[in-house]
Amino acid sequence: MSPSIARHISAAPTSGVRDIAARVASLPDCIRLEVGQPDFRTPQHICDAAKRAIDEGRHGYTPTQGIGELRELIAAKVAKVNDLTIEPEQVLLGNGGTSLLADAVLATCEPGDEVLIPDPYWPTLRTILAVAGARAVRYSCRPEWDYQPDLDQLRDGVTPRTKAIVVNSPNNPTGAVYPASTLAAIGEIAAAHGLWVISDECYDQIVAPPSTVAPSMATFADPDRVITAMAFSKTYAMTGWRIGYGFATTEAVSQMLKVADAHNSCINTISQLAAIEALTGPQDAVVTMNTAYRARAELAHRELEALGIPHNRPDGAFYLLADISASHFGSAAFSAALLRDHSVAVTPGSAFGSVSEKAVRISLASSEADLVEGIHRIGKLVEAFAR
Ligand SMILES: Cc1ncc(COP(=O)(O)O)c(C=O)c1O
Repeated sequence: MSPSIARHISAAPTSGVRDIAARVASLPDCIRLEVGQPDFRTPQHICDAAKRAIDEGRHGYTPTQGIGELRELIAAKVAKVNDLTIEPEQVLLGNGGTSLLADAVLATCEPGDEVLIPDPYWPTLRTILAVAGARAVRYSCRPEWDYQPDLDQLRDGVTPRTKAIVVNSPNNPTGAVYPASTLAAIGEIAAAHGLWVISDECYDQIVAPPSTVAPSMATFADPDRVITAMAFSKTYAMTGWRIGYGFATTEAVSQMLKVADAHNSCINTISQLAAIEALTGPQDAVVTMNTAYRARAELAHRELEALGIPHNRPDGAFYLLADISASHFGSAAFSAALLRDHSVAVTPGSAFGSVSEKAVRISLASSEADLVEGIHRIGKLVEAFAR
């Protein structure tokens, strides 16, 4: 008899986003509007700090929780930028925001527990829940409501098995940013039913002006029930450095540490030292990148509007959803045809759930020329099949 894989792991979904990226890798000439990472390089002063760390031989293990100085700087950043007072003991470093979300889910959920997640959702979240043996229950964030959460559906989704609500603002794939009143309402639902709130704020500083930061869940809900995940990945164009951070009560962090210990022992020391530089060095790259994403959002809006393709205007992150239902294709078939016949890669909305099934995600982490040409080709494909 051959050994078997755990059933909940074989049943776990893979990320549709990563599937597209793998297909595109073998097509060098295609226009890539599916990319989920900044098209900017990590600022030079951060790279220099990493090189210094290697040259100075600072490459041993650190505590699992992260270097003390970095946790202090993160607490200071959270106070200054997110308007929230936390102690360095409440901070846990992670292998990108992803691992903090996994730490949070694995530390709080038992097999069979239910977790309320937005639809559309970030696909890796489904994988994390499946690995934990938890069941995803969706609440809709529909285009007619600017992709804001349906709070009645969220409330109705709570059952005796519900353990947590996942919130993601600024949101991938919609770019929606939830106002303080929505966060407070979600906090009240969580408090009424004794639930955790796992708040994915990995795009906290990627927002449309005049804001410079998105409202943070723990500021508007009982902070003792909120576990927040943030990251250096998007803010500082550091996706491949794999460094993020989370914060929660010291008790929750001490339990999440056990999960982190099991996976990581500690986060890459060189990335931690680079992160210190990211927080203490000049912040102008954050502003430059954000300004570029906002300008591209305007450009994409103008192009899509001229073609008569319905779409949303994102307030944060660097994505928007374009409705391709006039083509009579589902989003997976549309994306496949667009790639095959027009050499443009987008992510089908079906990869993010059912609400975005008739849309494709366009990433604004692409050059203006690629955006204009890519959207033009999307328009051609929609037109060819519209009746
Ligand atoms: C909504 C969302 N959360 C979390 C992450 C994780 O980011 P990372 O692990 O690269 O920091 C991503 C990355 O694309 C994301 O889009």
